[in-house]
Formats: sequence, C-alpha cells, structure tokens
Amino acid sequence: MAVIACIEDLRLLARRRVPRMFYDYADSGSWTESTYRANQQDFQQMKLRQRVAMDIDNRSLATQMIGQKVAMPVALAPVGLTGMQHADGEIMAARAAEKFGVPFTLSTMSICSIEDVAAHTQAPFWFQLYVMRDRDFIERLIDRAKAARCSALMLTMDLQILGQRHKDLKNGLSAPPGPTLSNLLNLATKPRWVLGMLGTKRRHFGNIVGHVKGVENMGSLSAWTSQQFDPRLNWNDVAWIKKRWGGKLILKGIMDAQDARLAVESGADALIVSNHGGRQLDGAPSSIVALPAIVDAVGAQIEVWMDGGIRSGQDVFKAIALGARGTLIGRAYVYGLGAGGEKGVSNCLELIRNELDLTMAFCGLTDIRAVTPEVLLTMPWRAGMTCM
Ligand code: GLV
Repeated sequence: MAVIACIEDLRLLARRRVPRMFYDYADSGSWTESTYRANQQDFQQMKLRQRVAMDIDNRSLATQMIGQKVAMPVALAPVGLTGMQHADGEIMAARAAEKFGVPFTLSTMSICSIEDVAAHTQAPFWFQLYVMRDRDFIERLIDRAKAARCSALMLTMDLQILGQRHKDLKNGLSAPPGPTLSNLLNLATKPRWVLGMLGTKRRHFGNIVGHVKGVENMGSLSAWTSQQFDPRLNWNDVAWIKKRWGGKLILKGIMDAQDARLAVESGADALIVSNHGGRQLDGAPSSIVALPAIVDAVGAQIEVWMDGGIRSGQDVFKAIALGARGTLIGRAYVYGLGAGGEKGVSNCLELIRNELDLTMAFCGLTDIRAVTPEVLLTMPWRAGMTCM
C-alpha cells in the first residue's frame, strides 16, 4: 500500500478497488446530499483552543461505552453490505476492531451472518436491528443475536422508509451484482475484489436469505426494504424489543430533544445522535450541530453518542468536547476495508487514534474522560457562542 496518512487516502484507494455500485452505496447521501456534506463541513468550523506547558506525558484515550471498556471512544457503526466492500468484510472489520479494543456493530443487512461473525471472532460484538413486518423473523433475529453472545442490541429508529440515493437507483444496486454489461465492464477493472469474492461463499445477505419465508433473491435492495421494513415502528415496539432482548439497548437515529426524552423513558442504555450519515432526511442538520441540544436535554440521564461525518481523530475530539460519551464511524472504516481488508480497517483506527491523542495533547489534556467544551473556541452555529 502507498503511504496512508489520512482517511481520505483510504477513500481514494477504496474508490479504485471497490466496484462502483458498492463504493457509491457507501459514499452517498439522499437527494441533494446537503446533510451528508454538512456532517463533515460543520466539524471544520469548530476551532480548538491550544494550550502549552501543561505536562502532557502519559496520555490515555481509554474509557467506557455502556459499561464496556474501549481503547478510545469510537465504535464501528453498522453498515449494510459491508461484505460487498471486500470479501468477508464484516469478519475482517470485526477482527480489526477486536484487536484494537473497540466495539464492532454488525448490521441486519450484512453479508456475513451473525453466526459466521461470532464463529470467526472472540470478543462479543453488537448487533444492529431493523424492524420488519415479519415479527417472527425479528424475534428469531433477536434470539440469534443472544445465542451469538452479542453484548448490545442497537435498534435503528430512522430507517423504516428509505431516503432516495440517486446513485443506487442508477447503478441498480443489488448483492451480488447482476450480470449486466456495465457491471461486468466495471468488475473487469477490479481484479482484487473479484478474486476475493471468488474465494468466498459469502455473497448474499447472510442474516436474511434462507431465514425469511419466500426470500431467496433480494433483487433490488430499495424495493425489498419498502416491502419488508415496518413503517408502523413506534415506542411500544421499543418496549417489546427491550423486553425480548433483555440486555443493553442502544437507540440509533435520534435528532430531536423530544425524541431523546422518549428514548430515556424507554429505558435504553444509550442513544446515538445520527442522521444516518445524511442518507435519510436530506435537509436535517448535521449530527454535530444537533448534538449539544440533546446533551443538554438528556445527557445526565442516558449516554449520548453521535455519528456522522467523522473522518479524523480531531472530529472525535470535537464530538467528545460537545458532550458525546462515544462516537461511531461508518464510512471511515468502510474506506479502509475497501482499500485493504482487515489491515485497512486497522489502519483507519490507528490514524484516528493518533490524531485524537495528539489533538488532546495540543489542547493540554492527558485523559479523554476529562475533555470538556473548554477545549473549543468557537461553535459558529450557536450564535457567536464561545466557550471561553
Ligand atoms: C442502510 O442502513 C442504508 O443506509 O443504506
């Protein structure tokens, strides 16, 4: 691999190596992609407060997320089709996370199944759940996650319907890719990916195909989602899922203080401020802009985490400074995976760790748990507010 200095280097390499339909799937937002762009851009506007002569020896990034020790406050987010970015992608990402000491979240829409990831890893991982119309299937999924010793269930709250991503429509997204002329021409330029895929049996949605009645071929992902995902999902279902699961519950996709209060009432252990990587409601604010109001409303009662737009350790640092107790990365590690499999994911995590560590030190701190808004100089979207 060429020298990889930042996540952008991994992105460029992934773009060369991953078939267009799957690279585009990861790298797009809905409609105009304004929220997708804002997630990254709004981090750039925040300025940090440099301090000197503060004794910055012996630094620690270690902390806890829902009572679990983490090497840094970063978990791998659930990403659908991860096993199409690289052969056996979910297993590789889970292994990289395990070696590094951060949690991995397996998506319902993964290629490698729950059982398969459990069989190829030691550390318990988290399982992300989508609620579908077929409640028997959901009960079985929850039971399968329990049997696989998953240590938390992450319920996605913001994707019962799908925001339109133009590129997926145009590319005819499906897993595996259909044998169209344009797919075949594109695959001919991705020999590494093709070789990897020829060497694995994991090419379908492993949690679903063979587990849902009548689903052998998922054809178009968006058509399947609109038929199967249950738009009636409500807080009573959250209570039912919490009871059935019986373990740690994380609610993902909260963007509003009122919903955050309902999340607290539901008894969940953590909530994730997330606009689904700008893939659902285009026009929603960035996650980092939405974060402070939610921390103000419920931060004392529930762990508030965030995802969306994190491409560096500096971004993690800024989210923690605004009161997030943890963060999740999606595209950042998916780029690493597409660029270089398990090694690429490890590379991504190391880049984030080093940047987070140095940034904390430049701001005069040695323990990530001691970071407060005082490390920030400006948050332009809060009407000229400064933290000094
Ligand atoms: C699924 O989570 C998606 O955003 O495509």
